[in-house]
Amino acid sequence: MNRQTDDAAMIFEVGPRDGLQSLSLEVPTQEKIRLVNALAQSGFTKIETTSFVSPKWVPQLKDAAQVMQGILRKPDVRYTVLTPNLRGFEHALKAGADEIAIFASASEAFSRANLNCSIDESLERFEPVLEQARIAGLPVRGYLSAVIACPFEGAVAPAQVCDVAARLLQMGCYEVSLGDTIGAGNRETMAALLDVLLDTMSADLLAGHFHDTHGTALEMIRHCVERGMRTFDSSVGGLGGCPYAPGSSGNVATGAVVTLLEAMGLRTGIDLAALKAAETIAASILRDAA
Ligand code: HMG
Ligand code: MG
Repeated sequence: MNRQTDDAAMIFEVGPRDGLQSLSLEVPTQEKIRLVNALAQSGFTKIETTSFVSPKWVPQLKDAAQVMQGILRKPDVRYTVLTPNLRGFEHALKAGADEIAIFASASEAFSRANLNCSIDESLERFEPVLEQARIAGLPVRGYLSAVIACPFEGAVAPAQVCDVAARLLQMGCYEVSLGDTIGAGNRETMAALLDVLLDTMSADLLAGHFHDTHGTALEMIRHCVERGMRTFDSSVGGLGGCPYAPGSSGNVATGAVVTLLEAMGLRTGIDLAALKAAETIAASILRDAA
């Protein structure tokens, strides 16, 4: 469980990973480090810093080890990374990651596009990662992509999402982050999904990870809060997208999520004035990418 009190919300900043993984330009390692350090000054307790995936698949993050080595570690911040397999986990451990995330898909076609294997095969591949993480004492977060729609298969059934989410939790993930990978959802589709999910799992075990392709992410977050969820992923300045999801755009912008949650009476702990410095770095990265 992430929150300590009912009015506390958790914003999981994913910009340095999700935000940078699909940019067409190579962002200098020092800029990535500057971005992570600026975010750490803004009150986040979790920052997804990079991913240890195959550099053949995501060359944008091939400097993951250098980024992890170069950041100034704040003791109250958990620096988390994505790991697709045991090899990625070993690199993450060596780099001093505080937490790792595994990532599965609710649709077969997206699983193939993103991980080059079926959903079942991906979960099998993650078993030893979870086992090693347990031994190393690292918490594991589970991402679940395409929870509303798949870029290749179209609408995804809530029952299918529920099945894979339950498997991730059963395997030992402490929470499942629900990815609307291509920003296809809205309040109604999110409500229909939560009707099914919350029948069998607690809202505390779920996070929202919404790309904002069609400007609907905030209405989805608002609905999730009303249904009891308190953890939301966002990206500084709305950086982002998935290179294996045609049509995916950036994650919902962190500043907008902070403003919404605070207006709903929740405390995020994020200092919007301090966040400006990170937003300036994100904007300059985007300008260079344009
Ligand atoms: P594969 O090609 O099936 O597997 O890729 P492979 O074992 O043949 O590996 C290919 C090459 O990569 C080999 O190199 C491996 O050694 C190497 P070669 O022998 O040809 O020289 N390799 C690695 N190198 C470094 N670190 C590793 C690693 N693993 C293999 N960990 C694989 C399978 C899973 C590796 C590949 O599909 C992969 O890396 N996929 C990751 C794709 C990705 O990062 N996507 C974006 C993140 S997910 C996302 O954005 C969605 C999310 O935001 C939620 C949402 O929005 O929905 C989380
Ligand atoms: Mg994403």
